[in-house]
Amino acid sequence: MTAAPARPRILSGMRPTGKLHLGNYLGALQNWVALQDTSDNLHMVADWHALTTDYEHVDQLETNTREMVIDWLAAGIDPEKSPVFIQSRVKEHAELHLLFSMLVTTSRLERNPTVKEQIRDLHLEETVSYGHLGYPVLQAADILLYKANLVPVGEDQVPHVELTREIARKFNALYGEVFPVPEAKLTHFPRVPGLDGRRMSKSLGNTVLLSDSPEDIAAKIRTAYTDPKKIRATDPGNPDGCVVFAYHRAFNAAAAPRVAELCRAGQLGCVADKKDLAAVLAEQLAPFRERRRELEAHPKRVDEALKHGEERARAIARRTMEEVREAMKLP
Ligand code: TRP
Repeated sequence: MTAAPARPRILSGMRPTGKLHLGNYLGALQNWVALQDTSDNLHMVADWHALTTDYEHVDQLETNTREMVIDWLAAGIDPEKSPVFIQSRVKEHAELHLLFSMLVTTSRLERNPTVKEQIRDLHLEETVSYGHLGYPVLQAADILLYKANLVPVGEDQVPHVELTREIARKFNALYGEVFPVPEAKLTHFPRVPGLDGRRMSKSLGNTVLLSDSPEDIAAKIRTAYTDPKKIRATDPGNPDGCVVFAYHRAFNAAAAPRVAELCRAGQLGCVADKKDLAAVLAEQLAPFRERRRELEAHPKRVDEALKHGEERARAIARRTMEEVREAMKLP
């Protein structure tokens, strides 16, 4: 295995889900922004991946891509340092995916725990598509096309990085050293719950968006789940399991211990607590909203970032594919 270079290359990808929420930020985006100064980053919109589950609903794909990229840039991704691009614009992903698909058995794909869980959740036991089952192979192509050393992902994506490593090793053993064997870089973050206490997810309708206005934030936080046993403001409450407190911990860390203390002592009612939290959140997200407004006013900047990112990604992808074809004796 080749040692990771001093400045590792990082490929990160996200499906285009539209405007991002606090969970997306803490779980991924915040980490991407932090990594910009110590590594070479490429940020990819995984629009082909979105088709694995949503091939019937393509109307929103373009808007969702754009809104997500605006959020990336507003959150501090600097497209000069870290190219941002759309997967489907760089066709080399498809070519490498096809070649990799020869190196993977179908039973290996069927054992992937994340895919298995999706199949179960979406009731696709009898109807899972070839493309859906094979999306981890496409992900391997995404990663190896750029010879990435690190892939920042959450726990659920680790099986895909494992498969990527197997494919890289197999390719190198069969055709010669072309690919580094990449590693997953797990993002450890305080998992923030959605407003109802379940996992924060667009499909569950329980999100706070990074782009929400202070009024939206206040209205949403008013509905957040709190300790059901705390009925009156003066009842002592339990902050563990309270959504409002989880947000305090994530976005108001310095004040959180005091909030917990007052809640437990029956000196802080939920209504007042929610008001305080909404104000803190709105203030923390103010610079983000401001940058977003700027980008919305200058859509060309977003176009430029994507165009420039695509060119840089394509240049790397082309070089890799030349090596791949040569190693595989393809013309
Ligand atoms: N599969 C990832 C997800 O669902 C998205 C993704 C596609 C990705 N290609 C990638 C993530 C490459 C990291 C690297 O979230």
